[in-house]
Amino acid sequence: MMPPTQLDISSPQQKTSWRCAVCGFVFEGEKPPKGCPVCHSPSPEFIIFKSKEQLRYDGAKFDVLIINGSTHRAGNTSYMADIAEEYLREQGVSCRRFNLSEYHIDYCWCCYAVRAESCAYPCRNKNDDMPAFHQMLAQAKAVIIASPINWNGMSGRLKIFLDRTTCMENLYHLNKPGLTEGKVAGILVCGHEDGAIKTAMDVWLNLQQLGYILAPFGIAFRTHGSQFNSSTDKEFFRSDELIVRHTKGVVNNVIKMMQLDAEARLKGNLVPVTE
Ligand SMILES: Cc1cc2nc3c(=O)[nH]c(=O)nc-3n(C[C@H](O)[C@H](O)[C@H](O)COP(=O)(O)O)c2cc1C
Repeated sequence: MMPPTQLDISSPQQKTSWRCAVCGFVFEGEKPPKGCPVCHSPSPEFIIFKSKEQLRYDGAKFDVLIINGSTHRAGNTSYMADIAEEYLREQGVSCRRFNLSEYHIDYCWCCYAVRAESCAYPCRNKNDDMPAFHQMLAQAKAVIIASPINWNGMSGRLKIFLDRTTCMENLYHLNKPGLTEGKVAGILVCGHEDGAIKTAMDVWLNLQQLGYILAPFGIAFRTHGSQFNSSTDKEFFRSDELIVRHTKGVVNNVIKMMQLDAEARLKGNLVPVTE
């Protein structure tokens, strides 16, 4: 019999450490567990556990940055992000997609609240994954943000992510460079019962103060309904035709808007009036 090789996954030495991206539970095994015993997340929430390296942006150009702001890397919001990602690729548009639950993003230090000039780009907090996201936001021509509805608003993870974009905001009294002005935005929201438009508007308010242009018909949302048990949401969304049509619609409209290249035409011609 051949001795076990490094690729022999049946060998007991080949156990992998899997981390639940939701709660941090670590499991040792050849495959991730069927579900997390701590937070009850399903198997796809597990990622290979390795020592965390800081996210770096390699500088390669791409058009659309997709952010899944959900706690779940493979949940219902992720399904909308999956549709968007797949459709962008089908249309030949370059994109990168990130699930925030897989990254380390600290809360905003709120330097601006102490001394406006202290909130400069690059951000003073250089210790986590956010500087790479800042660079990608500045480079990409468009952003598509997906959020679940949590208490009629965006997820906590997404709120922290958006708070951290403050250093990119071209505050009128600071005369900072407008790093995101004229770029295009699309917003995807997924929930159980109510609060989708409020959530989309909260996300939009942040983006518009960064100078983004919302694509026409640039918001898609889908909820299942409070009369249903939320355990049935996943099955509902996966067989729902409208979620696919609306998400692809937003992506199409982001692409069309991006192709107008408003960013280049507006450069240097906008007056930031936000605070
Ligand atoms: C803390 C919390 C608050 C929620 N609040 C709302 C809400 O206000 N409105 C709503 O429609 N759904 C609400 N939901 C349900 C989620 O939006 C819904 O389950 C969504 O599909 C989850 O997406 P995910 O799989 O990406 O986490 C809430 C869920 C949680 C965990």
